Amino acid sequence: MTDAASQPAAIRPRVFSGVQPTGNLHLGNYLGAITRFVSLQEAHECLYCVVDLHAITVPQNPEDLRSSIRDVTAAFLAAGIDAKRHIVFNQSRVAEHAELAWVLNCVARLGWLNRMTQFKEKAGKDRENASVGLYAYPALMAADILVYRAAFVPVGEDQKQHLELARDIAQKFNNDFAAEIEARGQGEAFFPLPEPLIQGPATRVMSLRDGTKKMSKSDPSDNSRINLVDDAETIAQKIRRAKTDPDALPSEIEGLAGRPEADNLVGIYAALSGEAKQEVLRQFGGGQFSGFKGALVDLAVAKLGPIGTEIRALRADPGHIDRVLADGAERARAIARPTMDAVKDIVGLLR
Ligand code: TYM
Repeated sequence: MTDAASQPAAIRPRVFSGVQPTGNLHLGNYLGAITRFVSLQEAHECLYCVVDLHAITVPQNPEDLRSSIRDVTAAFLAAGIDAKRHIVFNQSRVAEHAELAWVLNCVARLGWLNRMTQFKEKAGKDRENASVGLYAYPALMAADILVYRAAFVPVGEDQKQHLELARDIAQKFNNDFAAEIEARGQGEAFFPLPEPLIQGPATRVMSLRDGTKKMSKSDPSDNSRINLVDDAETIAQKIRRAKTDPDALPSEIEGLAGRPEADNLVGIYAALSGEAKQEVLRQFGGGQFSGFKGALVDLAVAKLGPIGTEIRALRADPGHIDRVLADGAERARAIARPTMDAVKDIVGLLR
């Protein structure tokens, strides 16, 4: 057997990514991240994490948090992530994430974190009242990736800046402790610089109500997003009501410039059908939105319907989900612990 999938895990490149358990997962999470997670399984060793410690950087109702952690796990499984061949777990069960995050908090510079646009957006005007955790969030995210020394990180466009920071933190750790790392025979770079994978026609899915705003769990209008648990009728209604402009669809990509809603719907169609946007325009260019929307409804319902059904079925068996998470955490810790021990030695902490 020579195909990549049959190689032992140790020689397949390692992938890590995380999703926050905060409210319903939507089409943006699915197209920007989860479908990518699924396709990377073939040739990589993957860890997919429900990042509950990130979720509590803003207030959460404990009961809702517990069910969101299970729901994100259910969505991973329903979308086709294989929790036996790969690792699915929740972050707080592997204490090494928080442990490494502390060390990385001491490596990262205040000036670097001050530049993070997501903190500015999430903290809003009342910055003084934001949690310290929300501010330090990107250092925990770096720890998530680096504790597994992951090579690749599939994410949507909105995580690009955090990934750049993770690389800067890794590089600074390697530089600051270069002598120790060398002396311990760990080569020149203890932490590999993780490569973001931001690919495909839907790395930034926009709101169905406003093509200039990102599709988001926190948008007060449920019509702005398609949730993975929406039933067929709801999906159809949301697409039919999606904002468009009065012109016909263009036949060339250039014609989408300055038409954010059209661009977004074409991108969604392309991502769901596995085609390039140009190919979608070749089929629908010159036509009115009504016809295109009808085809998009059929496609979205065909692709998302079975996932929603499976999520609802998995919700009925929380014991199964909890076993998946506990088993995943145990296997994740087996990778994370040696990294953390080496970090302690390198930094000069006795263990
Ligand atoms: P989160 O939970 O906000 O989103 C999960 C994933 O979905 C992507 N995404 C989108 N992609 C396209 N269009 C959209 N409208 C859209 N909205 C969300 C996100 O880019 C992300 O890939 N900080 C991360 C979670 C995290 C993480 C990590 C990711 C914590 N540690 C380590 C990678 C590696 C977050 O809040 O994602």
